[in-house]
Amino acid sequence: MKRVIVTGHLGFIASAFCERFGQTYEISGIDFAGWGSMLENLMPGVRDFRADIADRDAVDRIVEQTRPDAIVNFAAESHVDRSNEDDSCFWRSNVLGARNLALAASKRGIRMVHVSTDEVYGDATSASEPWIESMAFRPKNPYAVTKAAAEMLLAVYAKGRTELDLVLTRGANTVGPRQFPEKAIPKAVWCFTHGVPFPLFRTPARRMWLHVADHVAGIEAALRKGQRGEAYNIAPMADCEAVTETVIERVRDLVGRGDIQKVEDRDHYDLRYWMDASKAKLALGWQAVHGLEDTLSSTVRWYLDHPAWLEAAHAKVSPAGPGG
Ligand SMILES: NC(=O)c1ccc[n+]([C@@H]2O[C@H](COP(=O)([O-])OP(=O)(O)OC[C@H]3O[C@@H](n4cnc5c(N)ncnc54)[C@H](O)[C@@H]3O)[C@@H](O)[C@H]2O)c1
Repeated sequence: MKRVIVTGHLGFIASAFCERFGQTYEISGIDFAGWGSMLENLMPGVRDFRADIADRDAVDRIVEQTRPDAIVNFAAESHVDRSNEDDSCFWRSNVLGARNLALAASKRGIRMVHVSTDEVYGDATSASEPWIESMAFRPKNPYAVTKAAAEMLLAVYAKGRTELDLVLTRGANTVGPRQFPEKAIPKAVWCFTHGVPFPLFRTPARRMWLHVADHVAGIEAALRKGQRGEAYNIAPMADCEAVTETVIERVRDLVGRGDIQKVEDRDHYDLRYWMDASKAKLALGWQAVHGLEDTLSSTVRWYLDHPAWLEAAHAKVSPAGPGG
C-alpha cells in the first residue's frame, strides 16, 4: 500500500495523520476548507485537493486522477453544539460524503478506513462494563446520529453487492495540536491566556482523553492490519479517564492563570464515554502510549508555543457556546 487519499487533511486529526505518515505514504488530501480547517494545517508533501466529498463527481474525478490504494475518511462536521443548532451540513458531509467515498472505493476494489467515534455508543453513565465493538448504537446527539448512520450504511455496502473493503475505527475524545478552539482544551488555553473565564458545563462529564498521536497510530494500524468489515475501538490507557472539570483545572495550572465559570449544560449532553480497546490491541498490535498528564502537558505546551495559530483559529470560531 503506497498511495492514500486522506480526507479532511486540513483539520485536526487528519493533519496529525499526514504529519506522522507523510513519509510512509504518498498522500493526496481532499478538504473543502470548511469549519475546523486551517490552511496552516497543510503538511509538507501532501497533494492538496479542494473539494466537497458530498459532491460525487468531484470525488470520482480525484480518485480517478490519483489512483489510490486506500482512502482514509476523516472529513466530517465534528462539533456537537453546532449539530444541536443545525444538523443539515452534518448529514451532507458525514453521511453523503462517506457514501460517495465508499462507492468510489468499492468500484475500484480499494480499502476504505472510515474514522468514526465513541459517541455512536451513546452514554455509558449507567453501564457496568466499558463498550466493546459489538454493542448496540445509542447515539444521543445529532452529530453522533450522523456518524452512526454513516457506519450503518457503509457496513451494508461491505456485506452486499458493492463488496466494500471497509475497516471502521471508533476513536475516543481526542486532544493535541491543531484542534479548533471550539473544543475544550484549545478553548481553555485561549480563555486563560486572554483573561476570559472558561465556560464549563455545570454537570461533570467523564471522558477518555486520547492523545492525537495515539489516535492516528491506531488508524494507521487499522489501515494495514484491520480485517475487512471489522470495527476497532481506539481508546487511551485507563488512567486517561477524567472528568472535564479536573482536566480544565489542570490546563489552568499549566497555563498559570485563569478563571472557570459554570454554565448551563448543552442539549443532549452525554455524561460518560467509556470504551474497551482490547480488540485493537490483539488484532492490530496497537495500544495507546500517552498517559493523561503527558497528553495534557504536551498539548497545552503546543498551544502556548503557537500563539499565532491559536489566534487565527480563534478568529474563525463563532463567539457563542461553551467548549467541551
Ligand atoms: N475530535 C475528536 O475528539 C474525535 C474523536 C473521535 C472521532 N473523531 C472523528 O475524526 C474525524 C476528524 O475529526 P476532527 O476533530 O479532526 O475534525 P475537524 O473538524 O478538525 O476537521 C474536519 C475536516 O474535515 C473537513 N470537511 C468537513 N466536511 C467536508 C466535506 N464535505 N468535504 C471535504 N472536507 C470536509 C473540514 O474542512 C475539516 O478540515 C471526524 O470524522 C470525527 O468524527 C473525532
